[in-house]
Amino acid sequence: MTQIEFDSLVPGKPIQIDVDGKPVCVARVGEEVFAVSNICSHAYAELSDGEIKGFAVECWLHGADFDLRTGQALTLPATEAIETFAVHRDGNNLIISQKIQKMKES
Ligand code: FES
Repeated sequence: MTQIEFDSLVPGKPIQIDVDGKPVCVARVGEEVFAVSNICSHAYAELSDGEIKGFAVECWLHGADFDLRTGQALTLPATEAIETFAVHRDGNNLIISQKIQKMKES
């Protein structure tokens, strides 16, 4: 897990942080904060260099949009979702951590 300050985030300007060795894109949308994998699922591009559009981040390289809330690829050329991370806010402190994998029901 990684701790950052809410006040350090500027709406519409995502940043990259490291969470347990994984590059993570953290984006503030209004008073909400989302964290997703920083690597586009289409090819290698860092989403923290992309643009925030509503609740989506647009990859700067080929223009795929990803939903910051679910990680779903919303537009081509990306078709695979990206990992999402848990964001816990306590006042000005944000804790970003990997989500606990849910056991798949058989
Ligand atoms: S690398 Fe992101 S859309 Fe192609």
